[in-house]
Amino acid sequence: MHLITLNPWSETDILETVENSLKIKNHPEKYRHAVGGKSLCLLFQKTSTRTRCAGEIGITQLGGHAHYLDWRTTNFDLADLSDEIRVLSAYVDVILARFLKHSDLAEAAAAATVPMINGCCDRYHPTQALGDLMTVQEHLGRLEGVKLCFIGVHNNVCNSLIAAGMKVGLEVTVIAPEVNPVAVDKELWEEASRKGLYKTLDTNTEVVENSLEKVIAESDIVYTDTWVDMEFFTDPSFAKERKRRLEKMMPYQLNVELLKQHECRVMHCLPAHHGYEISGELVNDERSIIFDQSENRLHSMKAILLKLLAHS
Ligand code: CP
Ligand code: NVA
Repeated sequence: MHLITLNPWSETDILETVENSLKIKNHPEKYRHAVGGKSLCLLFQKTSTRTRCAGEIGITQLGGHAHYLDWRTTNFDLADLSDEIRVLSAYVDVILARFLKHSDLAEAAAAATVPMINGCCDRYHPTQALGDLMTVQEHLGRLEGVKLCFIGVHNNVCNSLIAAGMKVGLEVTVIAPEVNPVAVDKELWEEASRKGLYKTLDTNTEVVENSLEKVIAESDIVYTDTWVDMEFFTDPSFAKERKRRLEKMMPYQLNVELLKQHECRVMHCLPAHHGYEISGELVNDERSIIFDQSENRLHSMKAILLKLLAHS
């Protein structure tokens, strides 16, 4: 069993993982030897704080061992990807991979003989979404019927929220004047929208100032993410596009003025760019559950590892 996208994961798979994440958070001592000597390889083509630490520290706290590899110090750049993944599969019990391209992840998963976890690619971020469901359950006590509004650039994080939400009855409304071209997944959006669990508002016609506020007023959770994915932040060839996006997106910044007195919770997967998609003041506002959300990545990653190792 892999976790490349949430598509093959059933409602039960997701709910069990959320429930186990909360159990692990409440009683970490019970899981100290849960994976007795198993090894996790972290294979990262992009940078990471939370996902890397959740994997590395998570497997250690479960009694296993982590081995971190990146593109700079290995032969992944020179070799056939499937060959290298077959080799790693013989050394470790599970692989957590952050790749630039979803297509590479799919190729790697096909070659792997141990479970593979998508640690974020250009189209999806499933471990983030599972951790986020845990946080929603922890703060609101339910998932079904929860209304989450994603305001920003429709990206990998947004896709996985839709994919997870549609399995458990969480409603996702997206207000996104921009879509990352590689994140377009019409099949996912149509399926979720047929189930009545996803809608996107046309920012040209439907989102005037008041309706943005109206959606926020009706939401239990307001969520945002970076307007530019991490691999493009310092890429000189993306500089013009970055400037265009930042200017276009500024009216959609989450801040205390926009949220007024609405009692919604605020989420962000982090890393956040204060003063762009979210103000620093809102990150630290009492409605923000961002730091619980980031802590929960650790507990939730442990539940994911336990599930995949039990099925391998
Ligand atoms: N949210 C998240 O995946 O953060 P990192 O990129 O730091 O892993
Ligand atoms: N969507 C952003 C943040 C993911 C944690 C990215 O891919 O860089």
